[in-house]
Amino acid sequence: MSEEERDRARRMRWWHEAKFGMFVHFGLYSLIGRHEWVMEMEGIPVAEYEKLADKFNPRPYAARQWARLAKRAGMKYIVMTTKHHEGFCLFNSELTDYCAPKRACGRDLVAEFVEAARAEGLRVGLYYSLMDWHHPDGAKCAWDEDARRRFVSYIHGQIRELMTNYGKIDILWYDVPWPLDVKGWESEKLNRMVRELQPDIIVNNRSGLPGDFSTPEQEVCPPEIPGRAWETCMTMNDSWGYHKADDNWKTPKQILRYLITCVRDGGNYLLNIGPAPDGSVPEESVRILNVVGDWMDKYGYTIYGAEPCDVKSSCFASFTRKGNILYVHVYFWPGEEWAIGGLRTKVRSAELLPDGEPVNFEQNEFRVRFKGLPSEAPDSPISVLKLECESVPKQDMLFIRKNMPRVY
Ligand code: GLC
Repeated sequence: MSEEERDRARRMRWWHEAKFGMFVHFGLYSLIGRHEWVMEMEGIPVAEYEKLADKFNPRPYAARQWARLAKRAGMKYIVMTTKHHEGFCLFNSELTDYCAPKRACGRDLVAEFVEAARAEGLRVGLYYSLMDWHHPDGAKCAWDEDARRRFVSYIHGQIRELMTNYGKIDILWYDVPWPLDVKGWESEKLNRMVRELQPDIIVNNRSGLPGDFSTPEQEVCPPEIPGRAWETCMTMNDSWGYHKADDNWKTPKQILRYLITCVRDGGNYLLNIGPAPDGSVPEESVRILNVVGDWMDKYGYTIYGAEPCDVKSSCFASFTRKGNILYVHVYFWPGEEWAIGGLRTKVRSAELLPDGEPVNFEQNEFRVRFKGLPSEAPDSPISVLKLECESVPKQDMLFIRKNMPRVY
């Protein structure tokens, strides 16, 4: 391991253990309530959009509800948009007046957020969009070198403010590097400054540099680079920012399945809320997160600190692993008798969680088959079996296809 890899492993230990975080998309767009891209999607002129800053005034310490809810759902960290593409800053910036403390709100919402997160024992992440639809140089920087210099000094200056004024920050979550490249943004220099100001921080890959982790969006899609850290970020409906009419909510079961799949494949899961203009969390999100939280209270230990799992195939279950223990997360309960095919590791014992009642099973080279299980799903939304294996569990589905005796 190189010095750099060792340092990364040290900085990222808590994050790998944590697995589950909350994303918060909050900004002026919440007032319109039609997705955080509304400004560009509807071609709203800057002068018209800007006026929202004179209305945006969420209730004080709305972030406390977010942080409590995140903790309640079993999340270990929380990442908030400090400036989305719209360019409005939720923090106090000396570099612009287009920020919450200097407009209707009159308060530093990043300060409130950071305090609320820490009060719940959550790690703190700050999202910052490089793309900026409001700054006069935000597009021009692509073809005008003076504009680029001004804009890059603005961006670096704001990141410096974020890395200086709020104590220890655990994650810096860049977004959309349009319209510049790594050279244009001076990303190396930027990340060096970040590291100097926050020696323990972890940084994502959306400044164009690889950073510490990759960020697949809306899908569980691990990067193909072996050993590379990654985090899937996902919305609960179809919008990151508050959307009054978007009712395409995922179910708690779907969300837990995504979480389990991320963990199985060695990644993290960052699940989003889009608070309403007053800062309150949409009721449906609260309902979903409460169900997720009930499940995490019982089974969270099958998630936190789990290791990548080689067992992946089943039509009704997904898997997580800790050492030689395989957790079978059954999302469509098949009834009293069923099997996992291709498990090539000897199973020593099987239990039904959360209580640990022993489960009858038999195993041959093709399958491990459970018997005498409840006919109805013992828990909701996902039931869990614990299998203790002789060594790290391995699955080989091709072994079945090739070797299963054929009848002629
Ligand atoms: C995208 C979108 C953005 C959202 C982000 C979250 O890049 O532009 O609206 O904030 O992804 O990952």
